[in-house]
Amino acid sequence: MTCEGEHPPAPRSSEGLPGFDFRAEGAAAIEWVARYLERLREFPVLAQVEPGQIRAALPASPPERGEPFSDVLRDLEAVLLPGVTHWQSPRFFSYFAVTASEPGILAELLAAALNQVSFIWRSSPASTELELLTLDWLAQLLGLPDGWHGHIEDTASTSTLAALIAARHVTGRSAVAFSEHAHSSVEKDARMLGLEPRKLAADEEFRLQTDAVERELARGDVAAVVATVGTTSATSVDPVAEIADLCERHGAWLHVDAAYAGASWVCPEFRWSQAGVERADSLVVNPHKWIFTPVDCSALWTRKPAAFREAFTLVPEYLRTTDEAESLSDYGPALGRRFRALKLWAVLRCFGREGLQERVREAVRLAELFEGWVRAEPGWEVSAPRHFSLVCFRREASDEENLALLERVNRSGEIFISHTKLAGRVVLRLAVGNARTTEEDVRLAWDVLRREAEG
Ligand SMILES: Cc1ncc(COP(=O)(O)O)c(C=O)c1O
Repeated sequence: MTCEGEHPPAPRSSEGLPGFDFRAEGAAAIEWVARYLERLREFPVLAQVEPGQIRAALPASPPERGEPFSDVLRDLEAVLLPGVTHWQSPRFFSYFAVTASEPGILAELLAAALNQVSFIWRSSPASTELELLTLDWLAQLLGLPDGWHGHIEDTASTSTLAALIAARHVTGRSAVAFSEHAHSSVEKDARMLGLEPRKLAADEEFRLQTDAVERELARGDVAAVVATVGTTSATSVDPVAEIADLCERHGAWLHVDAAYAGASWVCPEFRWSQAGVERADSLVVNPHKWIFTPVDCSALWTRKPAAFREAFTLVPEYLRTTDEAESLSDYGPALGRRFRALKLWAVLRCFGREGLQERVREAVRLAELFEGWVRAEPGWEVSAPRHFSLVCFRREASDEENLALLERVNRSGEIFISHTKLAGRVVLRLAVGNARTTEEDVRLAWDVLRREAEG
């Protein structure tokens, strides 16, 4: 026993790998991360390498004898970093911009240290219960109905897959209906499940048309309708309440994909886009998109947990117990589940409701500012209504010229933006969402775009 104030001497190395000085190597790794985060604006945002270049710079075969961890860090800096597209950069405006915030980064380290494999409650009571609690917290923050069952999947692709499996189980039907602007994962999930994907027309503001949904449901074979709040191309919002009426009338499952825009519900002023979501059978929101949580972390809620359990439960003998507790592997495809709740819990605790609101509001403010600059500039146009923090815009020129502009801008390395097609035309997308992005960064983006457009 040690007296109060005394501690046993700290071991010099971990017991697992002889000679590995975990404290010293760990301190160096944390220092590297801190320096990386400080240097984010120094790197070209889009990796400026050719395909195959990174692999060619590394040994083709593994080492025979163990190497020091410092060599790993050295090669990360010298060889891998040039091949990194910097999703952490405040000047990353592509796809949907994301952030691995500091509490999330540290919690990933802790989760790896604990290495929980949470397939049944007993294999990790803390992970199971924290996951349930954290998704209850997140439901409260986003203003979702009380009593929904929430768990974490890796990605929205898997969350939607799980929801469609539950829908097929409950309805016994064979098709899935969704908008032409739904994320490609919806069609891919349907295909993987042998369900017939039915892609429906959107209106001029890129929203699913309810008469198309009604016609499809009248065929009687639609297991699920997937409505999107915040589509990938344009962040359009499908009319969820009307679609919920139709699903109820025709006995179809309603899954809502709010992978990106669901985060905005932390602010009451964006809850207009939540209308009808309370009637969904399942809902996905990705904390790894706009809730400052490192990839991967996808929140899936349902108001029909029994349907998930019936569809997924399969307990082999070696996992049978008398514990009266739920196992989250009964709600999705994976048996072994990692401790993802720890990073989300850490993010929610360290940001708090106010911290989340502040950053969501700032991203929307910056997007609005950029939208204003585009509108005011002759020769440019805004190409879709802006609802959240994504601006769709284009140069008033041919598709080829817009694509060439995109390429020049991204090759400059100063910013990284992406494109899509709306109403048959190429459109550029500037997505604000990284928590470190400032007005100066967005101003730089506009300067680079105008400079390259002139060039
Ligand atoms: C609306 C929407 N749904 C689903 C996805 C897929 O997300 P994930 O990469 O987590 O599978 C995306 C990705 O951007 C998305 O924008």
